[in-house]
Amino acid sequence: MPLRLSVGRFLKKEEVTSDTVKMPQFEKTTVHMRDPERVEQIMCGLIKGGASKLQIITDFDMTLSKFSVNGKRCPSCHHIVENCNLVTEEGRQMLLQLKNKYYPIEIDPHLTMEEKYPFMVEWYFKSHTLLVEQRIQKDKLPEVVRESDAALREGYEQFFDRLHQHSVPVFIFSAGLGDILEEIMQQASVYHPNIKVVSNFMDFDDNGVLRGFKGELIHVYNKHDGALRNTDYFKQVKDNCNIILMGDSLGDLNMADGVPNVENMLKIGFLNDKVEERLEKYLDSYDIVLVRDETLEVPNAILQKIL
Ligand code: TMP
Ligand code: MG
Repeated sequence: MPLRLSVGRFLKKEEVTSDTVKMPQFEKTTVHMRDPERVEQIMCGLIKGGASKLQIITDFDMTLSKFSVNGKRCPSCHHIVENCNLVTEEGRQMLLQLKNKYYPIEIDPHLTMEEKYPFMVEWYFKSHTLLVEQRIQKDKLPEVVRESDAALREGYEQFFDRLHQHSVPVFIFSAGLGDILEEIMQQASVYHPNIKVVSNFMDFDDNGVLRGFKGELIHVYNKHDGALRNTDYFKQVKDNCNIILMGDSLGDLNMADGVPNVENMLKIGFLNDKVEERLEKYLDSYDIVLVRDETLEVPNAILQKIL
């Protein structure tokens, strides 16, 4: 069957050549690749497969959301809650201390994921315990998000709208806070029905006060068993054997572990912080590394070729 490219031209599958996959967006200074030929090869596979074979597996914080605007850090889902007026000054200070201790460990280029793992469990346990103590109210969350500096990366509307238009399944796998993430997506009008969110969801009591978290904790370095824990979802999308994976942490590379039937996978990594120290490792593991790039321009250009 001929493939329809977004430019309106029809290509036969065998006509997909390296010229077809050439993209001016790859010339951006933010784009780094260890092996451009391999990227080209994967791109050919993705283009041949088209919409019906594609699925997206993506992280949320600092991948779909911005890392910084004009040099000012943007908040993660956790930071949005920490900084809101539902949290006492004392609570905020304690959460800040936790962040100051554990975030450097999260991004330490000299520690392995195995070494970081117990510290992340500790961070999440302490942080979530503190949040529960703050008796956060469910009905306040929309306002909390509205008043925050949360921002999705430039080009997000095009990204989500195109994926929706072509019914491409999107699996957002986040170690952030699911309720906040969903609210951000809703307020941005991009929480389309092709999107499935797996994250840490808050559990509220009958009065709508936070009393804990549902299900197993997802932290930055235990994303490897996501497919195992979501077998029903991945069964449903088993024919979508081409994957675009997007993340900002080395832990995000494991988000597609155990997904059955994978034919082609393109891994796009956002390298936001400690760039010089981490670039080599990112280049070893992500096919495309976007350095201090606050946009979805490259993923959008790739989607435009495939869909
Ligand atoms: P992600 O999986 O969507 O990127 O979300 C996880 C991020 O949340 C990760 O970078 C660590 C961050 N985080 C905080 O900012 N504050 C916290 O209290 C905790 C536990 C995590
Ligand atoms: Mg992230």
